[in-house]
Amino acid sequence: MDGMAGMEGMEHEDGQAAAGSGISVASLTGPAEDEPDDRFVLTAEQSQIKLASGTTVDAWTFDGQLPGPELRVKQGDLVEVTLRNRDIADGVTLHWHGLDVPNAEDGVAGVTQDAVMPGRTFVYRFVAGQAGTYWYHTHQVSDEGVARGLFGALVVEPKSGPVPEKKDIVVATHRWQSNDGYREAFGSADTLQRQTVAPGTTIRLRLINTSDDLEKLVLAGASYRVVAIDGTDVNGPEPLSNRTLQLAAGGRMDLSLTMPDTPVLLCSKESACGDGGESGLLLTPDGQTGSLPQVVFGEAFDPAAYGRPAATPFGADSRFDRDYRMEFDEKLGLYDGHIAFMYTINGRSYPDTPMFMVSENDLVKFTIVNRSSAHHPLHLHGHKLLVLSRNGKEVSGSPWWSDTLDIGPGERYEIAFRADNPGIWMDHCHNLQHASSGMMTHLAYE
Ligand code: C2O
Ligand code: CU
Repeated sequence: MDGMAGMEGMEHEDGQAAAGSGISVASLTGPAEDEPDDRFVLTAEQSQIKLASGTTVDAWTFDGQLPGPELRVKQGDLVEVTLRNRDIADGVTLHWHGLDVPNAEDGVAGVTQDAVMPGRTFVYRFVAGQAGTYWYHTHQVSDEGVARGLFGALVVEPKSGPVPEKKDIVVATHRWQSNDGYREAFGSADTLQRQTVAPGTTIRLRLINTSDDLEKLVLAGASYRVVAIDGTDVNGPEPLSNRTLQLAAGGRMDLSLTMPDTPVLLCSKESACGDGGESGLLLTPDGQTGSLPQVVFGEAFDPAAYGRPAATPFGADSRFDRDYRMEFDEKLGLYDGHIAFMYTINGRSYPDTPMFMVSENDLVKFTIVNRSSAHHPLHLHGHKLLVLSRNGKEVSGSPWWSDTLDIGPGERYEIAFRADNPGIWMDHCHNLQHASSGMMTHLAYE
């Protein structure tokens, strides 16, 4: 459960803001009156989906699709999304992962709203202030809901016009739970997806990791630049090839490349890819598979040393109003009456984890240490984090802004952000199994 014990949820069902709840997030809504620039309706429903491999999965979908419909809007647009729940018994919400929306639009069941139960609706309204690659997903029993398919891409195109690339392809990597265990998949299929792209065409590949584990990807057959991380542009990205791209669970990376006159293949380390392979994205110049490029998982891409330095509104030398420490660990504990692995923040599991308090406009620093044996992708809602250092070494390349930062076993990060979005925000591991096993807390404005 994502619910927060003892907190009354609020509804602004069918567009009506509930008054008098007494909780401050009720006032932190998006613009209630104006005519929206974009209007979407998403219906959550159970569907049996047959994957391309022939495996049938009992999926929970938006509009019967896996992933859900791609929402594409322009920066600055007022976006209105009506969520309908047809038959998801546990209830559904919509969280706009990575996009900083007002707190009451953040879609966290039990914190910013009640879960939307079968037969009910909820209307979200927010201005899409940041361009970039984001995604939406349910935030009610999210470890199960997201794994079963309640997610989709949210792309915000820059105000200045479309991205420079001619072709814009969103790739969600997901692991479907099927009868024979987890199955790696790209987009809605668990088989090689093919697209024909004319040589010389510029392409933006928007990679989104919607599963619980760190994804190791390689793009073979072309050089490319990593032009954005978690929705923020990289400054001065230089060309790369055969790098292993480590994508945090919940994280995004935009690649830019020019289609060569030979095939290009995007593969995950977890699945067979390529000739007769079961998963991946294949771009061909002529619709012919021809001879596929060799897939080499080369040196790991390092966002801390990529691109050119640039000015940031604050940095390692700033004077911080808050200086917090967060330690991730694991221990055996009691969960649902069973002895199970519990994940902890500063020694405690949710809901006993410490809440981190800030005041509006505080400059906040966190030192995050991972003492456990697992990767923990840290996701803070409502804010963008500037990475200051990793394992004692300052970031030397482009400023590295993140909202979903993978902290590997034994690693230590320093991050900073401006507390500029009042409310109560989730701060949790985006391995959603870990989150439901305790690795969750809140950032709250006092
Ligand atoms: Cu993508 Cu709290 O979630
Ligand atoms: Cu974790």
